[in-house]
Amino acid sequence: MNKIKASTPGKLMLFGEHSVVHNHPCLVAAVDQRFLVTVEKIKGDELVVKAPAVGIYERKKLDELGTRRISKGLRFIEMTVKRFYEGHQNGGLKVVTENHFSSKYGFGSSAAVTVGLAKALFELEKIKISDKELFDFCYQVVLDVQGVGSGFDIAAALYGEVLCFVTGGREIRRLRFRTKTSESSEPLPIVVGYTGIKADTPTLVRQVGEIKRQHPVKVNKWFREITEIVNLAEKKINKGDWEEVGELMNKNQLVLQKLQVSSVELDRLIEACLKAGAYGAKLSGAGGGDCMIAVTSEEKRKGVEKAIVQAGGEVLRVNLGAVGARIER
Ligand code: PMV
Repeated sequence: MNKIKASTPGKLMLFGEHSVVHNHPCLVAAVDQRFLVTVEKIKGDELVVKAPAVGIYERKKLDELGTRRISKGLRFIEMTVKRFYEGHQNGGLKVVTENHFSSKYGFGSSAAVTVGLAKALFELEKIKISDKELFDFCYQVVLDVQGVGSGFDIAAALYGEVLCFVTGGREIRRLRFRTKTSESSEPLPIVVGYTGIKADTPTLVRQVGEIKRQHPVKVNKWFREITEIVNLAEKKINKGDWEEVGELMNKNQLVLQKLQVSSVELDRLIEACLKAGAYGAKLSGAGGGDCMIAVTSEEKRKGVEKAIVQAGGEVLRVNLGAVGARIER
């Protein structure tokens, strides 16, 4: 077959951001908003990329991949193809991407596109590859492009569901808890609020790294506190004990504030959710903007959503625990 389509879910960090960059665990959920990537062999010696959602239509000679500055959206695609071609294919290639949701929300579009593209390329060339090998391939692309990152977003796009993940994929484990989207009866009772502000993850990751360099004892202690929160949160999520999960979110948020990655806008939405009766709330991801999450009872959900809007945010309706990367037939 000359043409293959793959789809991958987006992600939402539940617990453990930043410490996961420094050899600690995190909990991440795949979201049911998917990215689609189609690859097709074409004549010639060019890579042609069409990403209409972000206004990209580009062509580049295959032997020039990785040279010249290109937009961030394109860099992940280009570096995935470059890395793949080093070991395998040659000949022209067309890549077309489609989003179910805007990349502005911080649902991990770069990771999702990287995983979808890599999965489709290996399928196109009929090369058998295990999930862990595919993870390692994609994680290397992320490091090639942005130099930093734990790889948690790659794992969510690849494996889906809700995962406990340790830096660089040293541990990738599905939680026992199964959500509605993965065919159980129960949805994760989480509300997502978007601040309207785009966060720059690598900058924030480097900023935290710098604070750690200056205050290693204090920051390592905070990271250990986050790890305890992550370990407890896994147990509470597995039991469906949402009130406790909420309290753990509040505790995680306090540490994130000490790490100086929250923002006025995030704090405002979090505060509004708590006032509206959410069990707990925290930022999700690198901080500085993007999204926050709150855990709430079903009775309070509407009020919590309304509070997010009144505080200047946007409610993003996603289901958590979506299935991982798959080839679309
Ligand atoms: O900003 P996001 O949603 O990509 O999340 C970043 C999470 C960090 O832990 C800060 C970075 C990472 O790679 O784990």
